[in-house]
Amino acid sequence: MTAISFSSVSKIYGPTPEAAQHLLTQGLTKAEVQARTQNVVALHDITLDIAVGELFVIMGRSGSGKSTLLRTINRLVAATRGTVRVNDTSIDQLDAAALAQFRKTQVSMVFQHFGLLPHKTALENIAFPLSLQGVPAPERTERAHRWLNRVGLDGFADSLPGQLSSGMCQRIGLARALITEAPILLMDEPFAALDPLTRREMQDEVLRLKAELNKTVVMISHDPVDAARMATRMAVLHDGRLAQVGTLESLRQNPSTREVSAFVAASS
Ligand SMILES: Nc1ncnc2c1ncn2[C@@H]1O[C@H](COP(=O)(O)OP(=O)(O)OP(=O)(O)O)[C@@H](O)[C@H]1O
Ligand SMILES: [Mg+2]
Repeated sequence: MTAISFSSVSKIYGPTPEAAQHLLTQGLTKAEVQARTQNVVALHDITLDIAVGELFVIMGRSGSGKSTLLRTINRLVAATRGTVRVNDTSIDQLDAAALAQFRKTQVSMVFQHFGLLPHKTALENIAFPLSLQGVPAPERTERAHRWLNRVGLDGFADSLPGQLSSGMCQRIGLARALITEAPILLMDEPFAALDPLTRREMQDEVLRLKAELNKTVVMISHDPVDAARMATRMAVLHDGRLAQVGTLESLRQNPSTREVSAFVAASS
């Protein structure tokens, strides 16, 4: 069963996206399009299906479009062209109320730069999605405490993000995403700020939850070892295009480009 389906998705930033699209279909590169038209190509013509229960990893160099692709799933970024469907709902068709409901109940997200609320405590940050869902205060606090402990931050319930290390903030961001029962979990470099031991523990926690709740997880990682340990399949983006998608084994055996080959080589 398909959880997330991208169909010819493009995202162009700049004054004349249609002109950029036209040049892209003629085979011009991201750099050429930018030089000629001042448009930045974040994504071009991505078609991809992710199945229910997958742990799908998106890889690629900095600026290749990974965060943009992830953010089209909950429409934090609206595609310039193409459609994104989640469980057969076309995300671009949702009105404001339906989109808010979708974000509250269907997806949770770990942000690349944590995205914590600076004036809320660690505990309040973790509990925040539950308050959006209307969960009563005592249950919220109880569940947030459980997650605070699970990510190893007991004793820091009342600290503000500014008083915590980046690894600690990342764990709050993870707990805040994992606390909801949303079937889809989006994670933008969720382990980047963690030390190797904590990283391993958090990876195990995500794998355990995925198995327990049959979540669909889409994760961005710069680290091929993360990907090798966790992914069912992975995609490599290059200059906004999908260079290849498949299992690690298939990418290793038949890399479609030098870019793909370089990524999978680093994972062995
Ligand atoms: N709001 C924006 N306005 C203009 N260009 C943008 C915007 N957001 C992203 N871009 C451009 O889109 C491209 C893809 O950016 P994106 O953030 O998706 O990359 P990424 O693969 O996540 O990179 P990183 O690994 O550094 O996080 C880049 O060229 C970037 O400059
Ligand atoms: Mg990014």
